Amino acid sequence: KELKIIEVKSEIGAGTRGASLGVEAMKIASLDLNSDFFKQYESIEVENVNELLFDGAKHSYAKFIDGVMIMEERVCLEVYETIFDEFFPLLISGDHSTSYGTISGIKKAHPKARLGVIWIDAHADIHTPFTTPSGNMHGMALAMACGLDNFECKVNDPRGETLEYWEQLKNVGMPGPKIYPEDIVYIAVRDLEKPENYLLNKYNINFIETEDVKKFGPAVIAKKALEMLDHCDMIYVSFDVDSIDSRVSTGTGTPVPNGLTVEEAKILNSELGKDPKVCAWEIAEVNPTLDTENRMAESAFEILEATAKSIVNRPVLAE
Ligand code: ARG
Ligand code: MN
Ligand code: MN
Ligand code: MN
Repeated sequence: KELKIIEVKSEIGAGTRGASLGVEAMKIASLDLNSDFFKQYESIEVENVNELLFDGAKHSYAKFIDGVMIMEERVCLEVYETIFDEFFPLLISGDHSTSYGTISGIKKAHPKARLGVIWIDAHADIHTPFTTPSGNMHGMALAMACGLDNFECKVNDPRGETLEYWEQLKNVGMPGPKIYPEDIVYIAVRDLEKPENYLLNKYNINFIETEDVKKFGPAVIAKKALEMLDHCDMIYVSFDVDSIDSRVSTGTGTPVPNGLTVEEAKILNSELGKDPKVCAWEIAEVNPTLDTENRMAESAFEILEATAKSIVNRPVLAE
């Protein structure tokens, strides 16, 4: 069993343009760091949607939802095929909304498996059109995966076509929810809106603070996160680079203080990568247009390479 790199140059889910360039920025970083990583593995690029085809102003509570919908379908199919062909999907993505496509693809390949998700991010990304403060769909990936509406904590009044698309989105890959909110573990999440706080409490979602990563160390935290998902058959790890502290993560759309160090993120992800239940890994939100000297992409690449190494060096891989 081998790794396969899936490149997803999407950026319409983010509030700031430029995340689609993150993939190439990480390739440049690999050259600057003298690594032949991208020569070692097969890679495939998911065909991007042309954002100019869509009218962003049309859906103010779910911007470019028509384009995001197409993107999710494409990512889902690619992940499904990659798993079907017995490769481990390693996704290098732009904006984080694509992780819903990844989750759908895993479920399409393993419909009966109970899928857990380890979400390493400054944000909870569990908004819906009813609760979003920005309308940016990268903040909605987990709500799509859980099939939520969040009607009971609504702050917006989306209607019409936006809601029709939202219903359709829930059926990417297969009809209905792909995961339970109870099967999420958040790590380093520290920038939440009120409705998200409400949801975390309502579903009692597993939550590991940045402070705990520093206190107990990233290796212990990796073990703890995996234990929290003991009851799951497979685990998907989603790594948003804004989980890293804003002093480093200037090259991302939504930087937040009090985050992880690059070293902590590297150890955390590569420890998780060793676990045979981990069946897909994704890195997202590198935006080189916001950076100087490609620093974010270099850190992201370091983490990516270390994690890939621990995935391929596993004694046994999950199927
Ligand atoms: N919660 C904020 C929003 O929904 C920020 C989301 C940022 N998400 C991300 N994947 N970077 O607008
Ligand atoms: Mn984030
Ligand atoms: Mn916020
Ligand atoms: Mn995110």
